[in-house]
Amino acid sequence: MKKILINGGRPLYGNINVSGMKNAALPIVFASILTADRCVVENMPIVSDVELSLEILRRMGATVERLNKSTVAIDTTNFEGSVSPYDLVSRLRGSTYLLGAELGRFGCARVGFSGGCDFGVRPIDQHQKGFEALGAKVTIENGCNCITTGPAGLNGASIYFDIASVGATINVMLAAVMAKGKTTIDNAAREPHIVDLANFLNMCGARISGAGTSVIKIQGVEKLHGCNYTIIPDMIEAGTYMVAAAAAGGRVSVRGVIPKHMETVTAKLVEMGADVEEYEDYIVVSRAGRLNRTNVKTYFYPGFPTDMHPQISALLATAEGTSLVTESVWENRFRYVDELVKMNANITVEGRTATIVGVSRLTGAPVKAVDLRAGAAMIIAGLSAEGVTEISKVESIERGYDDIVGKLASLGADIKMVEVPDEESAQPKAN
Ligand code: EPU
Repeated sequence: MKKILINGGRPLYGNINVSGMKNAALPIVFASILTADRCVVENMPIVSDVELSLEILRRMGATVERLNKSTVAIDTTNFEGSVSPYDLVSRLRGSTYLLGAELGRFGCARVGFSGGCDFGVRPIDQHQKGFEALGAKVTIENGCNCITTGPAGLNGASIYFDIASVGATINVMLAAVMAKGKTTIDNAAREPHIVDLANFLNMCGARISGAGTSVIKIQGVEKLHGCNYTIIPDMIEAGTYMVAAAAAGGRVSVRGVIPKHMETVTAKLVEMGADVEEYEDYIVVSRAGRLNRTNVKTYFYPGFPTDMHPQISALLATAEGTSLVTESVWENRFRYVDELVKMNANITVEGRTATIVGVSRLTGAPVKAVDLRAGAAMIIAGLSAEGVTEISKVESIERGYDDIVGKLASLGADIKMVEVPDEESAQPKAN
């Protein structure tokens, strides 16, 4: 079993490079199913969720070649639909994109239920509504979502989402690019990864406009071709390092970012009293003295990202005064709170709001990465805490952070990944 050990209290200094965005890489990997040509994708983050998505494609007959550390060539000529490996798709939320991609290419799909972080119920009713509007029939059979289309195939349609779901927007885009006629998605998600997927698909010959706004228009085309594409930088990884710098102190330059994507995180850090300098493709974060309290409410982009919620809470845990953090996107994203409390944080949760009374110092403790961003919050807390923090369940963190331990160590953090004997097997067995 792996653990991350952090000896806290050291300020961070230097440059840190941001990798490609996980949540853009996943739909782009599955979008490559839509063309039988070769797609070369650069700036792929080395994270286990993306590795899993590539393994799913391999197991379904695609050829996946790593051309260098962060460049992957995908050829889905021999891809076979309807045989998705349940042992893999059940571990990855992004595997729902197989539904839209297979529907777009073959007119049908059969995919086992997907996994991912546990934030309460994660329905796909909006995805289904979109597929049905395009003329597909959705049923559940033997633990799989099954989608079929009649002889008329898929036809463009007007679709209104009740909620601006990232996954539903992506799935309908994938299904509609080669449908007959025009599709309009109203109340579409506006996240930067939606724009990145649209740019990738357009490079492959699709005709998508309006991505990044709440109305996306798709004129169906007959066929897509391969392309070379570079994934945008990961705004959540960048935000995590900005918050880590504010928590630990020092002066950190977060490199290779799109500052526009960071506006809400920057605004909150400035409100708290951190110094944030913005340049064309990098942001420098430093602070002098203790930070002040603030309130944060997560929302769909361009609101404050839900995927930065646990990290900002870890920072607010030591700010002066009482802060409120309200979660508007997920039903339950507060499982990290019990872990921060073990580190002396003073946090209570009622409904969808956490009340955080800032303490002057967190103290190191054994804690768990209960999900991906919760794990990032434990690292941030550990960097600023007094003493040693020992984080278990690190595989949750590896799902979405490319070499987080190596990157933070290069800034002077006392952080390392260690292999320890599995606690359960190390315990003497009771008779
Ligand atoms: N929702 C519905 N019906 C649907 C779809 C969603 O009610 O058909 C609800 C969800 O229950 C949730 C809200 O809509 O309350 C937002 O869900 P969304 O579909 O936007 O989320 P997702 O596509 O499942 C992606 C990211 C998450 C990120 C959310 C919100 C990927 C693979 N996952 O999930 O990322 O939190 O968007 O921005 O892109 C992470 O990276 O740590 C992560 C969890």
